[in-house]
Amino acid sequence: MPTLSPPETAAAIKAHHVELHDGLRDRVVALHSAARRDTPYEADRDAIVAFLDAEIVPHAMAEEQTLYRAADTGVSALLVEAMLAEHRDLVGRVDELRRAADPITAVAGASAILALFESHLAKENDRLIPALLAQPGVSLGELLEGMHELVG
Ligand SMILES: [Fe+2]
Ligand SMILES: [Fe+2]
Repeated sequence: MPTLSPPETAAAIKAHHVELHDGLRDRVVALHSAARRDTPYEADRDAIVAFLDAEIVPHAMAEEQTLYRAADTGVSALLVEAMLAEHRDLVGRVDELRRAADPITAVAGASAILALFESHLAKENDRLIPALLAQPGVSLGELLEGMHELVG
């Protein structure tokens, strides 16, 4: 696959973010529905945790090795520091959700993860990626070549 141009790479990252967001939101909505109907919620909780473990946490770890490392300089270093803290927060909340033993705790935990992820994605799309595009000497395309966790 040829190296994507920086704008193409930025678009691919954002499109992958939409997929991750849709996947998480749909599963959280399913958990809400189960809790509202007072039907068993455990399978819906487990489906959210499985999606986080398989897709979202690996995505976060992959970007720490690539995007975040490249942006960890100058003014964007503060942004990277804050976003790394959000990754730690996310991972901790996934473990709490894994242990949620009643539907109210599961819904509260899953909703908090979704809200955290949404504001995190907005920062990545609207702050981090533009900062990287503006940084001289950084080729987003080369940085992400073959990183399927990041560009889908
Ligand atoms: Fe991230
Ligand atoms: Fe991301």
